[in-house]
Amino acid sequence: MKILVTGGAGFIGSAVVRLAVARGHEVVNLDALTYAANLANVASVADSPLYRFEQADIRDRAALDRILSTHKPDAIMHLAAESHVDRSIDGPGAFIETNVTGTYNLLEAARAYWTTQGRPEGFRFHHISTDEVFGSLGETGQFTETTPYDPRSPYSASKAASDHLVCAWHETYGLPVVLTNCSNNYGPFHFPEKLVPVVILNALHGRPIPVYGDGGNVRDWLYVEDHADALLLALEKGSLGRSYNIGGENEARNIDLVRTICAHMDHLRPESAPHDRLITFVADRPGHDRRYAIDPTRIRTELGWRPSVTVEEGLRRTVEWYLNNEDWWRPLLSRQGVGERLGKA
Ligand SMILES: NC(=O)c1ccc[n+]([C@@H]2O[C@H](COP(=O)([O-])OP(=O)(O)OC[C@H]3O[C@@H](n4cnc5c(N)ncnc54)[C@H](O)[C@@H]3O)[C@@H](O)[C@H]2O)c1
Repeated sequence: MKILVTGGAGFIGSAVVRLAVARGHEVVNLDALTYAANLANVASVADSPLYRFEQADIRDRAALDRILSTHKPDAIMHLAAESHVDRSIDGPGAFIETNVTGTYNLLEAARAYWTTQGRPEGFRFHHISTDEVFGSLGETGQFTETTPYDPRSPYSASKAASDHLVCAWHETYGLPVVLTNCSNNYGPFHFPEKLVPVVILNALHGRPIPVYGDGGNVRDWLYVEDHADALLLALEKGSLGRSYNIGGENEARNIDLVRTICAHMDHLRPESAPHDRLITFVADRPGHDRRYAIDPTRIRTELGWRPSVTVEEGLRRTVEWYLNNEDWWRPLLSRQGVGERLGKA
């Protein structure tokens, strides 16, 4: 299959690109190369005859039309987005422009391309979304695919809007779509403004490890390579117009996740242990959702998918990867906003 992956120089998109090429798919990576992108994420496949890169912005309709008619993909996996909740609090405009208007542009370009191709049944537009569209849970319960949307940050509202557009393009125009809503990812190549790499790198440098609020916010953690595997499965086997929740079945309070990372650091860097002495509680993020949890029954029973990596094992691999890949993360620390407290509102 030839797959156009948008956002393929980002964290999850690059995992999809690497896995798709490893499985013998042709991949066209379309990415604007924003602050969050890094072509080093796809260096391992850059010389493959199966791989192509197109620097383009999904807000640029003419560029999308050109790329689709040049490469003629069988499917689009749409991951390009502004993705950092704290940045969405400081500057929501970019989230509306890329996540909402950009997705609209891509849908219209895909519809025009699909129509020109004779509306092939096998074509897929796969929208990659988040569990954050469902809002915040109490102590119990899980998000299913029928949980009403209740986004509470500019980021999650922009992703909810893009989900609605994708569903509308299916119902109204018949565009063959599939959607997935996933929980928090972690793993190698994660941009160093997100929680897991921040904890690892601050522990490594002996700097305070910031934990928002009381650290009691619960997330369902999924190793990024398991997510990429689920995405390719949903693309190939998912039913038309259907959405699938993807989760790691690994609920953890932020403070417990941070302590687990510190324990891995103690093991790998015993000379600076204990690292949990660096934990520092800081003022909470405004509108910080308390708990997310995914019910993955649909993707498990209909598509036979389940995560392969426990959070313990995934965090161990991730900590080791950061300790062994300073050449990857060091240049990113000087990018705009990295290391600053963003999103205080
Ligand atoms: N990170 C998570 O835990 C998580 C969980 C569930 C869903 N998601 C979704 O998965 C997708 C990828 O997330 P990520 O964490 O890899 O994000 P990321 O920020 O690491 O990567 C986003 C990529 O999109 C590109 N991009 C941004 N704006 C663009 C534009 N206008 N045109 C073209 N390219 C553009 C960036 O250059 C970057 O390479 C997003 O849609 C996100 O909402 C993320």
